[in-house]
Amino acid sequence: MKRRQFISAAAAAAAAIPGASGEEKLAVDGGAAVRQKALRADFWGTQYYDQREREQLLEVLETRRPFRWYGSGSEPPKKVATLEREFAQRMQTRYALAVTSGTAALQTAVNALGIGPGDEVILPAWTWHSCYAAIVLAGALPVFAEIDESFNIDPDDIERHITPQTKLIMAVHLQGCPADMDRILPIARKHGIRVLEDCAQSVGGSYKGRPVGSMGDIGIYSLQLNKTITAGEGGMVVTNDPILFERGARFHDVGALRTIHNDMLTGGKLDPFVGCNFRLNEFSGGVLLAQLRKLDRIVADIRGNAQRVYAGVRDLNGIRFRTVPDPAGELGAAVFIRFDDSALCTRFKKAMRAEGIPADGPGGSVNLPAQPYVIRKATVHPGWPSFTTARGKSIQYEGCCPRTTDILGRFAGPYLDPKFTARDTADIVAAIRKVYPRITA
Ligand SMILES: Cc1ncc(COP(=O)(O)O)c(C=O)c1O
Repeated sequence: MKRRQFISAAAAAAAAIPGASGEEKLAVDGGAAVRQKALRADFWGTQYYDQREREQLLEVLETRRPFRWYGSGSEPPKKVATLEREFAQRMQTRYALAVTSGTAALQTAVNALGIGPGDEVILPAWTWHSCYAAIVLAGALPVFAEIDESFNIDPDDIERHITPQTKLIMAVHLQGCPADMDRILPIARKHGIRVLEDCAQSVGGSYKGRPVGSMGDIGIYSLQLNKTITAGEGGMVVTNDPILFERGARFHDVGALRTIHNDMLTGGKLDPFVGCNFRLNEFSGGVLLAQLRKLDRIVADIRGNAQRVYAGVRDLNGIRFRTVPDPAGELGAAVFIRFDDSALCTRFKKAMRAEGIPADGPGGSVNLPAQPYVIRKATVHPGWPSFTTARGKSIQYEGCCPRTTDILGRFAGPYLDPKFTARDTADIVAAIRKVYPRITA
């Protein structure tokens, strides 16, 4: 079936569903709900747990080899090492380093890049605490840029923040949507600035055929419960640059370069320096290996559901969605609908909830310049170098990104789940077709 035929067939199917015609009374006004029991998206990766994760865990238990570098037996354990090799292959990068969390991955990447006191890093105002924390914990200064209607950093708002001290742009691929790398990378190159891709919320997403994380100087991923694949906690750092890899490997393991990484690099080039312990254990490594081998299936499932919802509502008069720079690479974590003002958006959310199809605004991140601890520039020590320079003292965060606040209040939509059935997505379509025209009439 051609794409257009598919879209009209999906819209026709949705229109045939009771409650989809737009004439029935809304549940919020006392009418019958599309769904009696509210539909709720679950965590993705854990729904795919099966015999393969179980076997990985049991093998670590039975061989009593939970530590990645050594254990009983003459050969070193291999689960984390295999995970790193397969992850690098999947993300089309030369190197991958497993760490304990996405936050640890960010700290490892920022330190691998040599970012420190006196340096400035541009990041989107809407992202997770860890992005800001990794910059401040390295002693550098965070500088916020606005997001656009993709909820990712607005490429048009980057250049005005660049100073001679700017060393890094954090391109964060938020809520399954790839950031517009074709616009971000040339700006960075023009000014000699590095790019870190934060793919924590988009593991398995791509941009114009390239896996997210493989386009900048360094990429990071989170494998925590809310992410595409998971062992509860976990993280990854990827790069094509051997020096960045060696610095990251050393930083994540108290400055040491272990045999397996040394061999990959055909010999380290650097002296030891102060580092952390962010090593991943073999239990997590085994579960993540089993999960990684299912990544493409999970991505296909979630994308398929998102495409069904988009196709079923795309023809509604005036409907507009979150901007997606490369729709083929989007994961489809949610289908966000745009409203002209936040009051309309609030009415939509209320009416959808009454239909048994909860719709929410953008989530999983925070409006960082609005956080009291950010406004106060609170640090673990009052002499923290991020904020003791003249620039660090003068920078004001409160109210610095008003457009971000406005955008976040004007989008809402149903969150999706890779295991939603055809009936579930048909109900989502029916609820949007019932509610959206009335709310916007
Ligand atoms: C954009 C982003 N970066 C980094 C992280 C940190 O990942 P973790 O929770 O694994 O530390 C998160 C977590 O949600 C995130 O959303």
